[in-house]
Amino acid sequence: MRIDILTLFPNMFNGVFEESIIKRAIENKKVEINIIDFRKYTTDPHNKVDDEPFGGGAGMVLMCQPIFDAVKDLKTKDSKVILLTPSGIPYKQKMAFDLSKEKHLIIICGHYEGFDDRISTIVDLEVSIGDYVLTGGEVPAMAITDSIVRLLPGVIREESFIEDSFSKESYILDYPSYTHPREYEGLKVPEVLLNGDHKKIDEWRRNEAIKRTKERRPDLLK
Ligand code: ADE
Repeated sequence: MRIDILTLFPNMFNGVFEESIIKRAIENKKVEINIIDFRKYTTDPHNKVDDEPFGGGAGMVLMCQPIFDAVKDLKTKDSKVILLTPSGIPYKQKMAFDLSKEKHLIIICGHYEGFDDRISTIVDLEVSIGDYVLTGGEVPAMAITDSIVRLLPGVIREESFIEDSFSKESYILDYPSYTHPREYEGLKVPEVLLNGDHKKIDEWRRNEAIKRTKERRPDLLK
């Protein structure tokens, strides 16, 4: 898979894909990630990429031209174009699974007040990572890239993500996990996990996962 991330702040990505699982995925050629400064596509003599909103209002709006030209330049018949905006549809694990099947993603990060809405006409998906407003799409681009790359074949063991809180099989939260020591500052590991009875362990984990989901995310059980 190839992922092209269009941003006005490429330095924000310094280091994020250079550690741990994503770094290994890049080294093993499971994914190619390109961080592209879309200011280089502007035809404005002063390198402008944004302007005041028609009708008035606070802040600046990203103009069509640099983004249209960048997408035209990068897009192939296999590309899926994603625009990150708090007004997008909510990003979920299901979308991560679907996007992990694509060959090429072009992810556009907004910044400032927003985009000229005509940019919607050249994108396949407008996505929000949650009901809060960040200063731009860079952190969301890191989050969705990370969530997609870990699902690519050969990046992590498939068993690892089948047991995730939001796997293909389940939309309930993960059960609690423990490791050594058995007691730490008076806090004990639940007895059931120590006796090797796997039927009992599975049952306990399932019940704990449901209990946690009821407490924290009752919406998932509806
Ligand atoms: N840009 C700013 N906030 C965002 C959010 N919550 N999701 C996606 N893009 C954003």
